[in-house]
Formats: sequence, C-alpha cells, structure tokens
Amino acid sequence: MHAEIGVIGGSGFYSFLDDVEEIQVDTPYGPPSDSIALATVAGRRVAFLPRHGRDHRYPPHKIPYRANLWALRSLGVQQVVAPSAVGSLVPEYGPGTLAVPDQLVDRTSGRAQTYYDTGAVHVAFADPYCPRGRRTVVEAAQGAGWQPVDGGTLVVIEGPRFSTRAESRWFAAQGWTLVGMTGHPEAVLARELALCYIPASLVTDLDAGVEEGAGVTHEEVLRVFAQNVDRLRDLVIDIVGALSAERDCPCPHALDGLKLPIELP
Ligand code: ADE
Repeated sequence: MHAEIGVIGGSGFYSFLDDVEEIQVDTPYGPPSDSIALATVAGRRVAFLPRHGRDHRYPPHKIPYRANLWALRSLGVQQVVAPSAVGSLVPEYGPGTLAVPDQLVDRTSGRAQTYYDTGAVHVAFADPYCPRGRRTVVEAAQGAGWQPVDGGTLVVIEGPRFSTRAESRWFAAQGWTLVGMTGHPEAVLARELALCYIPASLVTDLDAGVEEGAGVTHEEVLRVFAQNVDRLRDLVIDIVGALSAERDCPCPHALDGLKLPIELP
C-alpha cells in the first residue's frame, strides 16, 4: 500500500486505470473524497483519488481537501498531479486548451486551508506550484501534440455558482487567465505537507466576461471535459512516466526549520 505519485482527478475524471487495488484510507480530518485506487503506471506506483468522489458527491466548496492530501501523503505520495476543469479568461485559450498556470489567486472563503491551527507555521507560497513538475507537464503535453499554455494565473472562486460577467471581466482586467473552483486550498495544503503540486488545467469554456463567451453552464463544462478526457488521461500517464523521482525542486524543503505542532503521516 505505497505510492510515490498521486493523481487527483477532477470533474469527469473519475477513473484512471483498470487494474487497480482499491483501498479505504481514514485521516484525522475524516475520510477523503472516495476510496483510493493504487496501480502501477509507466513503472511508477500511483494513487488515484477522484476529487469530487466517483458519484460527484462533493461540490467544490465541500471537498474534504485536508483529508485528500493527508491520505495521499500517508501512502507515501510525494508528488501530486492535479488535472482539473477551468474556465478561460482569455479569448485565445479556447475550450480544449491545456494550461499549466504558474500563479494562483485565492477568492475562496471559509474553506479550511491549513493543517496548522496552532503554533507558528507559515509556509512560503510565492510560487504555489512545483516548477519541475510544471516543466514536465509542459514538455509531456508538447510531446503528445498539445499546444499547452505555459504559465498564467488561476483565480479560484468559492462557487459553486459561476462568476457574474462583472466579476469575470474584473478577473480578466487583473491579467488573470484562468478561473476554477478547486485549485485552492488543494495547492497550499500540498505545500503544507511538503508535497510537489503540479497543475494540469483543461479549459472547458470561455468565462462570462470574455467577449465571445455567452456565459458558462455546468452542462458545457462536463461535455467539453468528456470530449477531452481520453487524451487528458493519456497525457497524465505520460506525465507520470516523465516525472523525475529525484525532487530537485524547493518543494521537499517547504517545512525546513519550522516547528510543526502536529506529526505528519
Ligand atoms: N470550471 C470550469 N469552468 C469554470 C468557470 N468558467 N468558472 C469556474 N470554474 C470553472
């Protein structure tokens, strides 16, 4: 029951592989979104967790983010690949585009976003994503014939509603390029566990403020995701195979010198 790489699948990405061992994991934060599927992918031990649960029982603001990341780390996971559906705030990044953001803006509210409710643990989060993992995603996507967008800012809204046109126009005017509902607190909780967190964002729609966008619907998000899910799954397999086992990135050092009030799994 060990894995080195975790994959947290988003809307429409409920299964990953066929030949899996399903395990139930419990955590001090309750159970994760669903059972975790363990498999060997491209020679690597992988733990797959559907972010919303296989029956999509958890909307973005109810996902047990702390339990999910804790459960993966308790299995030995060190690197988390995080595919997700996002809206685009840029007309050129149409549906079907793969984006690998390098920044994040948190517009969520009321989500538990730390493991450290006592003590003084302040992790650095200036660069929220693993730089080595991001490079791997961009290169794997290029190798597989995608034209990935390398960089950009993902604004994470509380949801579950989509944005108004005014909100969306405001996000775009800030220079932010993508909008989603689940990228936070997932990224910071991974950082608080010294995990590499690696985004792979699939654009499903142009958000409401984009001139050409009529306003997004959930039906559209699911339809476009379903149209792309097979190639996204293939890409995730390529990414898993291409991720270096040696973590020569800052992520493993996220907790260096900090006095932790809890014991990590
Ligand atoms: N997920 C997919 N499309 C989205 C959008 N337009 N806004 C927020 N989250 C999304």
